[in-house]
Amino acid sequence: LNYRVPRTRKEIFDTLVKGLQRLEYRGYDSAGVGVDGPRKNDNGDNVNICLIKKRGKVKALDEELYKNDSIDLDIELDTHFGIAHTRWATHGEPNAVNCHPHRSDKNNEFVVIHNGIITNYKELRKYLKSKGYKFESETDTEVIPKLIKYVYDNSENDYVSFSTLVERVIQQLEGAFALVFKSIHFPGEAIATRRGSPLLIGVRSKYELSMEQIPIQQNVRNTLSPFGCHYMYLFMYCVLLPCSLHAVIYLQDDDIAAVAEGKLSLHRMSRCAGEDPNRAIQTLQMELQQIMKGNFKAFMQKEIFEQPESVFNTMRGRICFDTNTVVLGGLKDHLKEIRRCRRLILIGCGTSFHAGVATRQILEELTELPVMVELASDFLDRITPVFRDDVCFFISQSGETADTLMTLRYCQGRGALTVGVTNTVGSSISRETDCGVHINAGPEIGVASTKAYTSQFVALTMFGLMMSEDRISLQKRRLEIINGLRMLPGLIKEVLTLDDQIRSIASELYQQRSLLVMGRGYNYATCMEGALKIKEITYMHSEGILAGELKHGPLALIDKHMPVIMIIMKDACYTKCHNALQQVTARQGRPIILCCQDDPEITKNAYKTIELPQTVDCLQGVLSVIPLQLMSFHLAVLRGYDVDCPRNLAKSVTVE
Ligand code: G6P
Repeated sequence: LNYRVPRTRKEIFDTLVKGLQRLEYRGYDSAGVGVDGPRKNDNGDNVNICLIKKRGKVKALDEELYKNDSIDLDIELDTHFGIAHTRWATHGEPNAVNCHPHRSDKNNEFVVIHNGIITNYKELRKYLKSKGYKFESETDTEVIPKLIKYVYDNSENDYVSFSTLVERVIQQLEGAFALVFKSIHFPGEAIATRRGSPLLIGVRSKYELSMEQIPIQQNVRNTLSPFGCHYMYLFMYCVLLPCSLHAVIYLQDDDIAAVAEGKLSLHRMSRCAGEDPNRAIQTLQMELQQIMKGNFKAFMQKEIFEQPESVFNTMRGRICFDTNTVVLGGLKDHLKEIRRCRRLILIGCGTSFHAGVATRQILEELTELPVMVELASDFLDRITPVFRDDVCFFISQSGETADTLMTLRYCQGRGALTVGVTNTVGSSISRETDCGVHINAGPEIGVASTKAYTSQFVALTMFGLMMSEDRISLQKRRLEIINGLRMLPGLIKEVLTLDDQIRSIASELYQQRSLLVMGRGYNYATCMEGALKIKEITYMHSEGILAGELKHGPLALIDKHMPVIMIIMKDACYTKCHNALQQVTARQGRPIILCCQDDPEITKNAYKTIELPQTVDCLQGVLSVIPLQLMSFHLAVLRGYDVDCPRNLAKSVTVE
């Protein structure tokens, strides 16, 4: 908050809590804040830091602030730099002690918030313990405030600035981190730095025009106020501020940002001396209504219903239906190189991996190249051979998933061309890849990914169309797909009208323990993605089964009690899926079948059917996944769970 005007502690808390609420979907097992404390020394400086931490959601923290009699909310403070954090546990269970900010000692001399992972924390902890430090939490983070105090106490005779102290600390850290430090020795100041984990500085201004790419002056303390920036926020990740225009500075690895008395200065760590510390202020456009729930019960539900528009936005300005051409601006300069490659490798985690599985077949057909689809973590575990003439696609909604990011760096190190497919402009993956496609689905808040999947699906299909533009033998097929894409938003709307029917089927199923989803061909990915949705938010056991593998094991699970959803669409696998259906019904299975409209043959063998409009075989998966998204949503609501915040999961997994 504007440092020139004294603020009440309540105002400072409220500002921090509002920011946390916007970030909460990224981690919600506990939350904490640290602001300047009540005491003033002879110079009038605040010499204490007040920490409040609470297990559970930000709401619990907010309530705690008002319940806690020892916190004087009305006290006016001259220094207003507060830090706040929502946690998704990696080391140590979710509780108030393990929650951030972490502190150096009982006097809170140094406090720190951290995202990422410190891999050498055990060694550091052992060393610090040998120096008499007492640890209170089980986290890797706690070594950081202890270490900075140790460095501070051991440089007592010379004046060392806050940023130099931080620099000395991070020299000792291994792993990935985005950190913000605060200290009673440097009231009103904060230092932020990163390595491996994303961190950006949000700058909020009432003067929109001044927000265009303003360079930060090299190495000098540079006030932003001449440009009209009255408020400054430091946030882990991209915080969604309650205004339509956001200006941000992306910090790079080993940047050190210092904020003192409302002024920001940026410099490189001394070992990077000579490197350019200039960072542009960039604007992000995001409408407030895009991140509000509106009339929906949950973000996930809203995002499912947004799919006609989000899929349309993925295609907007990229497909010319008159000339049947597709242009993905971020790839066009690299097309020649991609056409010459040895193979395409699609890499992702979770839902993003499934988008690769869903489009593999059509990419093989349209590019006539071998296409591998890989889970990022497994790809790294296998130390998979990658060559200079490979093209590696990194599919990630957030653009920050650590496994995917590490794999990107691995492939880059081996000289492959890297392509990002992300939903987050300015994310690590979109910045670090050689080229890429933004899927433009709009912000996705629900932890269970829905609209990002269908947009990734469409974006990858468009890439196949772009690659095949001059293949004469493929023109008929291309035309069919382009027409299919044109109709897709309308057909998605039609599928969404099945919501009531799906809710009523869910009301029959919600007390079950398991739910199998079976299919093959283009819809195998739909089965895996549907089962993932069910697992993520309903906590039921669910498995996506390739119908071709039914006889090799899963058939043993089938009896009249086991709920099974089968996907049987009118495509090349229709007869084979029909055979699987016979095998299921012969074992008294009672399948709920997702099928095309007007298919009496299927309807007569089904316990229930959900009938979908038909589209081109390779796009059918965009339609068939939607009933499963809706099903998982209704099951979760009926089971009484918080759809947007499933237990143990986070939206962006920025640790390996
Ligand atoms: C987490 C989320 C999943 C998501 C996966 C990959 O596990 O809970 O919903 O599919 O990360 O995320 P990304 O942002 O890379 O697509």
